[in-house]
Amino acid sequence: MSNIIKAGVVGWPVSHSLSPRLHNFWLKKYNINGEYKAYPVEPGGLPEFIKNMRADENFRGVNLTIPHKEIVMDLLDIVADAARKIGAVNTIINENGKLCGINTDAYGFAENIKPFIADKKKAVVLGAGGAAKAVCFALNEAGFKDVIITNRTISRAESLSSVIRHPSSVVDWEKRSEILHGVDLLVNTTSLGMTGKEKLEIDLSLLPKAALVTDIVYSPLITPLLEKAQAQGNPTVDGLGMLLHQAVPAFEAWFGIRPEVDVELRNHVLSGMVQ
Ligand code: ATR
Repeated sequence: MSNIIKAGVVGWPVSHSLSPRLHNFWLKKYNINGEYKAYPVEPGGLPEFIKNMRADENFRGVNLTIPHKEIVMDLLDIVADAARKIGAVNTIINENGKLCGINTDAYGFAENIKPFIADKKKAVVLGAGGAAKAVCFALNEAGFKDVIITNRTISRAESLSSVIRHPSSVVDWEKRSEILHGVDLLVNTTSLGMTGKEKLEIDLSLLPKAALVTDIVYSPLITPLLEKAQAQGNPTVDGLGMLLHQAVPAFEAWFGIRPEVDVELRNHVLSGMVQ
């Protein structure tokens, strides 16, 4: 047991995280002598945690969640370019004491919508928080020609737009229903629609019927936005797939096998969710 390969998720709080359920499913499926645990670590405790991980050759790395994703950068040896641009590290890879920080959220978002998106001309992104940065980065990489960002606090949308530069533009939050004409993809990155939060108010009547609508919120799985989009016949993708896909590069880096995202995994994670 002493050579067990270790990984986990670090956050405060972290007990709600679905990552242990997800990674342990793969560990069992691929018969790997490994473990993936949740580590509740207060903000002040992160340097000590990282120091111990660095010194433990069996500890291959961690995922990071709130509140550690930004602050951790100062504690690492290398921060990958994409993570630097997105401004957040969600995965650390420990290679014999050398710590590399990457961000797999943009990859997870892109993989989740890939099978469903044909045209990559115009996208509207609702929100400009941390999640929106990864989404906008992914849209840029995917080759979207026109990315419109709208956010309640316009200054945050402007600063995000200046980071991703061309091809983005910013529109007032009040105008969100008026900018849906000719859109191929509508993404909600705000917390609106999440269980316990306010509903996202938006009129989808200008949205083309072929436009893909996706929400990074996955609790509930079918948010009011997705429900509304489905009711008017638009294709939709829920946010759970982004969570599943973002875990793939991390698992591969730690445990040496590129795992599959399939229906069994999805059902297993779903059964651990409180809906
Ligand atoms: P995350 O890192 O998960 O994206 P965040 O940085 O707190 O979280 O961002 C949450 C997003 O939801 C922001 O775009 C936020 O808008 P503001 O930048 O104006 O705060 C948006 N949001 C949260 N509550 C909202 C509300 N009641 N109306 C409109 N937007 C809201």
